[in-house]
Amino acid sequence: VTKIILDCDPGHDDAIALLLAHGNPDIELVAVTTVVGNQTLEKVTRNALSVARVAGITGVPFAAGCPRPLVRQIELAPSIHGESGLDGPVLPEPTIELDGRHAVDLIIDTIMAHEPGEITLVPTGGLTNIAMAARKEPRIVDRVKEVVLMGGGFNVGNWSATAEFNIVIDPEAAHIVFNEKWPLTMIGLDLTHQALATPDVAERIAAVGTGPARFVGELLEFFGETYKDAQGFDFPPVHDPCAVAFVIDPTVMTVRKAPLDVELTGTLTLGMTVADFRSPAPADCTTQVAIDLDHEKFWALIVDALERIGDP
Ligand code: BDR
Ligand code: CA
Repeated sequence: VTKIILDCDPGHDDAIALLLAHGNPDIELVAVTTVVGNQTLEKVTRNALSVARVAGITGVPFAAGCPRPLVRQIELAPSIHGESGLDGPVLPEPTIELDGRHAVDLIIDTIMAHEPGEITLVPTGGLTNIAMAARKEPRIVDRVKEVVLMGGGFNVGNWSATAEFNIVIDPEAAHIVFNEKWPLTMIGLDLTHQALATPDVAERIAAVGTGPARFVGELLEFFGETYKDAQGFDFPPVHDPCAVAFVIDPTVMTVRKAPLDVELTGTLTLGMTVADFRSPAPADCTTQVAIDLDHEKFWALIVDALERIGDP
């Protein structure tokens, strides 16, 4: 069982990542932290607590983190996630309370309270909290098992021609996280654009027949519409659970070792993640990128998690 901290900005795909992490028996969710991104910190935090109620998550600390990026102005994504950040389903009133700590402190406390190599960090939003945690308590860098993040891409962008949303909304934070010496896997758009919620997937999820499965169905319906209108996709790419899926079962995708960095000065390429594929990667390279997804294996994990969650 792998212990993870999910740092997220729910967010349709963040919500599904949370459900996957909760429902999968090989993952233990030890903390959930929120960061400004798809919507304001206030909204994404409330969304996380609502999803916790839908999924029946109790006994896991949830904490709110940074309300704005390190350097840049706030940039939200209502065109993809709506005004609430989680438009589509009715969001139930949260029943659990927030942890009193700041997310950065909850991340640090959790990592330091566990043995070295025990905690995996799974960021699925901007990297503000993670960068702040690494600066506030540098000992966490050696102590985490690995960082498996959704963000970036080596071939394609979505928020600009060259940059992906999670990276470009706080490129300085991403630069910090990518340049620390922890093992880091970048699950970028090259991979997540293969995680399409095709009609057969929607049918399999509907067939689970529970409240949480209906909730996911409603999320995918809204997400499908905005991805069609705003980005020209036939079916929505469900990015964030790909990072959780890799932690559960690394054979769900192929990866390639490569040095990675984040562009901070480009006029056309701000926030671009640059992978150096001049092979072979040097022996001390600690970073890798995701390449090819096993679509069937991935969606089977999601359906399985929903079946296990049942009707809490
Ligand atoms: C990423 O941006 C957000 O809108 C999604 O939740 C995902 O984390 C995809 O670029
Ligand atoms: Ca996200």
